Amino acid sequence: MSSTQTKTLPWHLQGNWAPVQDEIDARDLPVEGEIPEALEGSYYRNGMNPRSGYSSTWFFGHGMVNRIELGGGRALSFRNRYVRTPYFDKEMHITEAVMDPTASPANTNIVRHAGRFFALEEFHSAWEMNADLETVGCFDFDGQVVGPMTPHVKLCPTTGEMLFFGYDVMGPPYLRYHRADAAGALVQSEEIDLPRPVMIHDLNVTENHVVFMDLPIVFSLEAGFQFKPECGARLGVMPRTGGNADVVWHDIEPCTVFHPMNSYETDDGRIVLDVCRQPSLMTGGLGDLDQQANLWRWTIDTVRGGVKEEQRDDLLCDFPRVDERLVGRRARFGYAAEYERASAPRLGHHLLRYDLESGDVRKHHLGPSVRGGEPVFVPASPTAEEDEGWILALVHDEEGDVSYLQIVDGRDFEGPPVARVRMPQRVPYGSHGNWIPA
Ligand SMILES: [Fe+2]
Repeated sequence: MSSTQTKTLPWHLQGNWAPVQDEIDARDLPVEGEIPEALEGSYYRNGMNPRSGYSSTWFFGHGMVNRIELGGGRALSFRNRYVRTPYFDKEMHITEAVMDPTASPANTNIVRHAGRFFALEEFHSAWEMNADLETVGCFDFDGQVVGPMTPHVKLCPTTGEMLFFGYDVMGPPYLRYHRADAAGALVQSEEIDLPRPVMIHDLNVTENHVVFMDLPIVFSLEAGFQFKPECGARLGVMPRTGGNADVVWHDIEPCTVFHPMNSYETDDGRIVLDVCRQPSLMTGGLGDLDQQANLWRWTIDTVRGGVKEEQRDDLLCDFPRVDERLVGRRARFGYAAEYERASAPRLGHHLLRYDLESGDVRKHHLGPSVRGGEPVFVPASPTAEEDEGWILALVHDEEGDVSYLQIVDGRDFEGPPVARVRMPQRVPYGSHGNWIPA
């Protein structure tokens, strides 16, 4: 089916959500402002770009990874490549691809662990790429990771471990937890009991624990994914090295969360989770993305039980991130993309910085016709202070239909960007990415 055959285009095929198909290379990209010399490395970001120009939902578009290479105060190069999985190569229908663990859209994240780049999507195995965006192959730890792998793996800044999970609606088990060591060897896999198959997009980690989110976007063969608040909502706390028998579940109000911002534990047995929470989602099924998340804090009392649930702000936001050196630790600053209230996802004109201690929020204005994506923090050096560095985000200017890499000073977040790099072609709003130092 081509997009021209549809009478009204769905939101994910309109404006800057609409895909591009051209794979290009460009060098010496035009820059406004000055790129800091310390930014030496590449920003990788994945996103959905259906090869035919059409996909029935945003989630089913083919993964395309963009790489923007910075160094010596210059924007050295741009490259974008599809992840060449069987879903892409054979142009499989999604109903065929969901039955083949290797046929991944591979469209949701691009991460590096133990020297390997993984393109990830949550219903399939990982796909390995190299630093130059050539697809290497399907990667399931030599068959040790059974079932799908989440796109939201967590890299522990202290141990170098990769903590992750997979949920499997075809199960049971509906949830598996995995841990890979700093060298990339799988050292643990656990089957976790859940009463029903639910969508679990992301994971919370702390210094000693993981916290699973059993939230009621429930899967059934008849209805697919659908929000069913009557099924309840729970947070499952487990020691990182624990198993199913160690999980302690804590009930919370029914809601949904795609993305936690960060989490940490306190000396007196509390676990604090800052999340982008919304009261409901997908009431009309998988494609019904009524984006209405706010920043909330859940504080789990692991000694006496119970969860304190607090809304921290009323701005709509998602794509939350913190300094990667503080994942699972108490971080002061969290970053997110602003959203606007609409019947379909609509990014706002600001990047947001939350002070997680005071609750204060600061806005970086992108411009009256510019809307932005996931902000990624890059420290000025490995030992830099928490806000000493830059925030990077791929943004789109509706005037001129041009995409930029926005570079914002962490210590002048509300000021103008230190630089913006003009992309050689439009980069559609996508999913997640990461900075990889040179
Ligand atoms: Fe995500």
